[in-house]
Amino acid sequence: MKIYEMTNDQRIDYLIKSGNLTDEQAAFLRAGKPISQDIADSLSENQIGTFGLPYGFATDFLVNGKEYLVPMSIEEPSVVAAASNGANRVKKSGGFTVKTSPHIIYGQIVLETNSADKLEILQQNRQEIIDLATAARPSLQKRGGGVVSLTFEIIADWNEILIGVNTVDAMGANIVNSMLEAIAPHISKLTETDVLCSILSNSGKSQLVDVEAKIDFDNLATKKMPGQEVAERIVQLSQFSKHSVMRAVTQNKGIMNGIDAVLLATGNDFRAQEAAVHSFFSTESGYQPFSDWQIMDDQLVGRLKMPVEIGTVGGAIKAMPMAQLSLAIMKINNSQELQAVIGAVGLANNLSAMRALVTTGIQAGHMSLQSKSLAISAGAVGSEIAAVSKELNRTKNYNLQEATKFLQKLRNE
Ligand code: MEV
Repeated sequence: MKIYEMTNDQRIDYLIKSGNLTDEQAAFLRAGKPISQDIADSLSENQIGTFGLPYGFATDFLVNGKEYLVPMSIEEPSVVAAASNGANRVKKSGGFTVKTSPHIIYGQIVLETNSADKLEILQQNRQEIIDLATAARPSLQKRGGGVVSLTFEIIADWNEILIGVNTVDAMGANIVNSMLEAIAPHISKLTETDVLCSILSNSGKSQLVDVEAKIDFDNLATKKMPGQEVAERIVQLSQFSKHSVMRAVTQNKGIMNGIDAVLLATGNDFRAQEAAVHSFFSTESGYQPFSDWQIMDDQLVGRLKMPVEIGTVGGAIKAMPMAQLSLAIMKINNSQELQAVIGAVGLANNLSAMRALVTTGIQAGHMSLQSKSLAISAGAVGSEIAAVSKELNRTKNYNLQEATKFLQKLRNE
């Protein structure tokens, strides 16, 4: 039986059998209480409830030679299907190759002066400042991280102190902000100048993933179109997106579909990720598509080089049981591995969307998955949902009126 044909319970059993869930974790999932009132209350001010999102997993991810089932949390029905579909095509041709680099986060202190002399004072006290920053998070060094750079610069009317920190597996915002606030008073004293602000940068330019996928033409063909033609059309669309911001932004949205869903499932800060990509792809030549597709040696080759600003420890990730569960399902225990998987998910979603767009269009697959949402919107419950959805898929009349009409007919019978 295919995973999408299973019931919710059968899918959980499948994850136990495949070794991705323990009995205890499965019992937690089955209990359907993803977050306790205590945790929810401690994570947000004025908390009055919790907001549920569907939680599922994408299959067939082969990333740097390791297989992954990837938990995703999202309300758009086609996203998990698209991720698995793209991943499966890449897997058949050898899988994703992803390069990552150590996890460096930058933080800025802005001084209310633009004095070269004051920068010189800071330069002379450089080591002292680094020691003070290190002392603010002593455990970081034990985990192999710490301050990796400290630079001083005049930017327009201000002096900027820029610290680079290897935060290892933590996303790093809290670590860097604590370090900055620990050194800011000392910097102010040394320079006899007011600090305007101290805060990390979400630029993400030092947390890049470089993902490559090579797909044999055979793994792209549709019933009506040979694989080589599909590949050539994907390349054309990729080229077009470099000339049209209207298209680039939609292509990128498809990539973020998958990425955001994994960020949510792993308790990561999706706002940081969104901000990082806005900045990275707003280049001197304008806003750019994140991915690029070309044909090389009779294969379609996709490349996605982008910031992935995440962590696997600390903050909300530790507090939220579902985030811990997602990392357990993926069998991931360091941030670079999670970055690699997230990059691969982005490219898989992109491949799937591009292939659909240049062949059948996306509505066929999209709407048949949306039909369940339409059924629910029409008021269907329990077994009525599948019945209404089946009828919508048969008639291809995907609208609320049709769903309501059929639901009434079903109830009258
Ligand atoms: C829909 O959520 C995402 C797509 O629009 C992406 C794309 O056009 O590449 C299908």
